[in-house]
Amino acid sequence: MVAFTLPANSKITQGKSWPAPSDAKRTKTFKVYRWDPDTGANPRIDTYEVDLDDCGPMVLDALIKIKNEVDATLTFRRSCREGVCGSCAMNIDGINTLACTMNMEEIAGEVKVYPLPHQPVVKDLVPDLSQAYAQLAMIEPWLKTTTPDPERERLQSPEERAQIDGLWECILCFCCTTACPSYWWNGDRYVGPAVLLQAYRWIADSRDEFTGERLDQLEDPFRLYRCHTIMNCTKTCPKGLNPAKAIAEIKKRMVQRKV
Ligand code: SF4
Ligand code: SF4
Ligand code: FES
Repeated sequence: MVAFTLPANSKITQGKSWPAPSDAKRTKTFKVYRWDPDTGANPRIDTYEVDLDDCGPMVLDALIKIKNEVDATLTFRRSCREGVCGSCAMNIDGINTLACTMNMEEIAGEVKVYPLPHQPVVKDLVPDLSQAYAQLAMIEPWLKTTTPDPERERLQSPEERAQIDGLWECILCFCCTTACPSYWWNGDRYVGPAVLLQAYRWIADSRDEFTGERLDQLEDPFRLYRCHTIMNCTKTCPKGLNPAKAIAEIKKRMVQRKV
C-alpha cells in the first residue's frame, strides 16, 4: 500500500480557543482555519464559541462578530453581505458556498470554516484567485462587436434575451471552479466551470459578433475538454446555476459548427 505524508509545514495544528460569554444561553462553535504567512507557523484551527442570541443568523454574521469583538486578526473577504458580490465564498461544513447566505442554524453541530479548496492561501480564509482571474481575463468577458455602434442600444428579441438567463446571474464567486476535480489537477490549463460559464454567457448573447473567435479560443484539449461532467460545479453553485450545462452547450456548439 502506498503511504502519503503531508509536508511538515502543511500539517494543521490545534489553535486557540475563545469561549462564549459566561451568560450566553445558546451558543454555536466555529472551527476556523487560520494561517498567517508572516509568522512561518503551520496552519491551525481556532475555536470560537458564539452567542447566538447576540449575533445575526448567517455564518458571515458570526465571522464579523468574531473579528469585531473577539479576534481582530481573523481575515476574510466580504462586501455586499447579500449574495451578490461573491467575495465571501469559502468552504463551510465541507461545501463551497457564500458565508453571507449560509444560515448557521442549518448546520448541525460545529461549523467548520475553511478557505475555498485547492488554491494558494493569502491569509486565513482568503484564497489567491489570481489564476482564475487571469483565465477570466483571457476570455474577454464583455460584448465584442465589429459593426458600427447603433444610435441607441443593440436590440435583442425576448427570445434572444432569454438565451442568457441562467448565465448573467453568475457572481464569479468561484465556488464551482474550486469544487471541480479537473480544475484541482489541471487548473493551469483547464479554465474551469466559472470561466466557461462566463464564456458561454457571451457565446450565447445574440449581440456579440465574436462567437467564432470565442469558440476557437476554447477549442483546446485542456481549456474546455478537461471537463468530465462530474457535476460538482452545479451541485455547489450558491446561486443555483448550472455551469456543467453551459460547458455542455459550448461542446455542442463546437460540434454544430463542424457539421
Ligand atoms: S462538470 Fe466539469 S466543470 Fe463541473 S465539476 Fe465536473 S469536471 Fe468540473
Ligand atoms: S457559476 Fe455559480 S458557483 Fe460558479 S462562479 Fe458563478 S455563481 Fe459562483
Ligand atoms: S458578502 Fe457579497 S456575496 Fe457574500
